[in-house]
Amino acid sequence: MSLMDDLQILKQDGQDAISKSSSLEELEDIRVEFLGRKGKLTLILKDLKNVPASERPTVGKLANEAREVIEAGLDERKNELIRGAEDERLKTEFVDISQPGKIPHVGRKHLLDQVAEEITDIFLGLGYRVAEGPEVELDYYNFEALNTPPDHPARSLQDTFYVKQAGGSGQLAEEKKVLLRTHTSPVQIRVMEKSKPPIYIIAPGKAYRRDVADPTHSPMFHQVEGLVVDKHVAFGDLKGTLEAFAQAMFGEDRQIRLRPHFFPFTEPSAEVDVSCFICNREGCRVCKWTGWIEILGAGMVDPNVLKAVGYDPEEITGFAFGMGIERIAMLKYGVNDLRLFFENDLRFLAQF
Ligand code: PHE
Repeated sequence: MSLMDDLQILKQDGQDAISKSSSLEELEDIRVEFLGRKGKLTLILKDLKNVPASERPTVGKLANEAREVIEAGLDERKNELIRGAEDERLKTEFVDISQPGKIPHVGRKHLLDQVAEEITDIFLGLGYRVAEGPEVELDYYNFEALNTPPDHPARSLQDTFYVKQAGGSGQLAEEKKVLLRTHTSPVQIRVMEKSKPPIYIIAPGKAYRRDVADPTHSPMFHQVEGLVVDKHVAFGDLKGTLEAFAQAMFGEDRQIRLRPHFFPFTEPSAEVDVSCFICNREGCRVCKWTGWIEILGAGMVDPNVLKAVGYDPEEITGFAFGMGIERIAMLKYGVNDLRLFFENDLRFLAQF
């Protein structure tokens, strides 16, 4: 057999092998077997030196042709196989658009955040700005500067979480004691210390008291504090402000009612009720058949508080108010147990 015959057979064998191949791996093996450095073609061409010089160009041409045909065959088969695999994939992986979709889990703000924002927005609309203060607070800001004498019941160990101070040796002076603020009122002092009237601020935040959790108590809860100090601020301004707030929050038909009360840092002080937005004062379970619902505490800033921050009570007056966010949220959204806010059960939270 001549080299020419060998090349003819090689070309034919290569094409046969290619057409029978069924995977890319197999194709690669075929390429190596026929065209590789130690493959069949190389082997055949080793005998080229025995071919008479006059015939070599013809043999060479045939060898090139065999290589080209096999290479082209490999390429073509490769494309076929890839396309076939794709068709196969499309057949098995088709999307059934009639299947019900997966509903993505969309988060939302906690109800307490929503209500805090709602309250804050109402006061921002009245020209107030938002202030903040620390939750770990000095006795001075939480009590002393707020005209709360050392023997006031609000200071008793029962109500307040005190913070042990590292390395604190001996008795600390009362006003240097560290505690978790029992209300947001210390923000009043911090703001007044740092700025001059006119002051119109709202301060939402956490407060802490040594209470056992029950449907209306939690050792951590939230309040919104309000403070206005300016020249000529009168009790009527307080009442008008709270009325505007109650109507924005609970409906434009609402009325408010002020009952005398006591807070150390306001004088006079009042507890403020809103006319029941469930029964419109007809009497119902929510208002306990009184027609009124208590929503906050308020009063005129006590002259002693103004003095503590260096203001002249003869020149400057003010009012303050504070409300529990949980309480407002429970009333407005019909939640009957305050603990639900902190259990983080999505079945509850997702309703709002
Ligand atoms: N700090 C009071 C409380 O926690 C509420 C309050 C704030 C009352 C401001 C009057 C003025 O009960």
